[in-house]
Amino acid sequence: MCGIFGYIGKQKTAPTIVLDGLKALEYRGYDSWGVAVVPVQQSGKQTIVVKKKAGKIGNATVTELPSGTLAFGHTRWATHGGVTDINAHPHLDCTGTIAVIHNGIVENYETLKAGLIKKGHRFVSETDSEVIAHLVEEYLKRFTVSARDAAPAFSKAVQAAFNDLDGLNAIILINTQADEMVAARNGSPLVVGFGNGENFLASDPAALLPHTKQVHYLEDNEMAVVSRGGIHIFDAKTGRRIRPRKQQLTWTAKEAEKGTFPYFMLKEIFDQPGMLSEIAAESTQQAMLLAHELNTAPRIYIVGSGTSGYAARSASYLFATVAQKLTNWSSPTEMHHHIDLLPPGSIIVALSQSGETMDLMEVVKRAKNNGTKVMSLVNVVGSSLWRMADLTLPIGAGPEKGVASTKAFTAVVAQLILMAHAMKNDVKTGQRLVASAAKAAKEALKPERIDQLKRIAHELKAVEHIFVIGKGLSYSTALESALKIKEISYIHAEGVAAGELKHGPLALVTKGVPCIVYAANDMHYQSTLANAMEMKARGGYIIGVSHKPDEVFDEYIPVSDVGEATIIPNVIVAQLLAYYLTIERGFDPDMPRNLAKSVTVK
Ligand code: F6R
Repeated sequence: MCGIFGYIGKQKTAPTIVLDGLKALEYRGYDSWGVAVVPVQQSGKQTIVVKKKAGKIGNATVTELPSGTLAFGHTRWATHGGVTDINAHPHLDCTGTIAVIHNGIVENYETLKAGLIKKGHRFVSETDSEVIAHLVEEYLKRFTVSARDAAPAFSKAVQAAFNDLDGLNAIILINTQADEMVAARNGSPLVVGFGNGENFLASDPAALLPHTKQVHYLEDNEMAVVSRGGIHIFDAKTGRRIRPRKQQLTWTAKEAEKGTFPYFMLKEIFDQPGMLSEIAAESTQQAMLLAHELNTAPRIYIVGSGTSGYAARSASYLFATVAQKLTNWSSPTEMHHHIDLLPPGSIIVALSQSGETMDLMEVVKRAKNNGTKVMSLVNVVGSSLWRMADLTLPIGAGPEKGVASTKAFTAVVAQLILMAHAMKNDVKTGQRLVASAAKAAKEALKPERIDQLKRIAHELKAVEHIFVIGKGLSYSTALESALKIKEISYIHAEGVAAGELKHGPLALVTKGVPCIVYAANDMHYQSTLANAMEMKARGGYIIGVSHKPDEVFDEYIPVSDVGEATIIPNVIVAQLLAYYLTIERGFDPDMPRNLAKSVTVK
């Protein structure tokens, strides 16, 4: 969940380069931050200089840090130890000459720490991460024979320490003797970037875009020794050298910038019409190939977490109604009872923006071990879920930085619409629908609609509960809308299957309770209006999102009817409402409390 950025090169402003890299990564985890630098060689004994602080990185500077050509840094999302300056990374060993940054959880840190304390090591933080610096210090005593072998000894010490750690971890270490960064990963993502006379390490490829597009993603149990002159990859278990599998990043640095928008979330909401037009115009060859695989599979299970899970739920409706293919969906954390029962030839379809969600990766690994085929639809090409899959499709949303997923949802739904129609051998209809959704998205973003949603947000800013209802595809829309509202505005919002209201939730609908009703032009239209009427009869304030007005609506938000692709403009309405509610309530929509963009821990 944490952000990692490391630099080694010719520029003496390494701390600033690292700080800028961290700022680009802050959305991954942001309760504290820190930067460490090996100062340009001075006379006498040299130690690493660290600046670290609890709180957001915001407009922080590192001008007081000494110049250096080797530095690294971290933005923390706390797991072990409270949010304090001392618990922020990097952590130093007893001598101040070794520093570590870490993403993950060292499950056996208590045992390791007890052993190190017995050997005389002094700990200053409450974190599991600090153990790693002391462990490397200990191994280094064993491996260093002379100053000449400082570098090989350091990488050997990091390798030995890494192999002592239980759990899923990504670590990077520097020391004052070896002019290099040594990294190793198991579970948590790490990517190395190849520059010219300078090289990089990051937890997320988007942070590398201003510097390089040539990268190697570290696989589990791979190590990288990153120096100014090159990057060497090793197997962390055996020490065997591995040839880097270089990949080219396809995004541009500009795509990952906020531009003139106040927040990434708003920028990403407005990216949607253009993005959808591009998806509609894409070559459909890969979709056709994947459709064939899906058609011939005896069982399909679509899996994703959170917003991606609601996209998975939509797919189960789309594949059923468009392609008459029975499809199950699940969140990965609820998949464990089913996964071993899939018949041979089944396909697991993994949906993920980041391609790094740990819960999903676990399910995918287990499915693969059972011989189930894995199809990944991910936004970050080259990510772990991309590399693990037998079949892949990029969802094509471009970089998404707001913690609340917006365009990645509509992009993956657009791809699923194309896929459902490709399964019916009618990809043209899919393309037409996605192109219409692009137009409907543009309509949903026109100034008068924005003004209406700003007004509604102003009126609702103090409410405690919001209900959102729909049926079929509109039920997925309702669930996703409620998630968007609650996760950034902190108003309790609940998505309910419209037909289920009278089986319980209706008890909570009292005078003035806002109820958003998705009444799409489909088989559920009339019955959804009847459910809206039931809410209105209990005093509910009905906000209708529909292709035409109805007397049951107290407030009407028009949305174009674009068949099953109506889910796209419908969700955009909720994205905007969630955004403006958050602004009205004085919160930061890009960085909701307790959440991070990429959930790489269990
Ligand atoms: C909500 C949100 C999360 C993610 C979930 C899965 O707005 O962003 O619910 O959808 O954590 O993440 P990915 O799609 O990266 O696997």
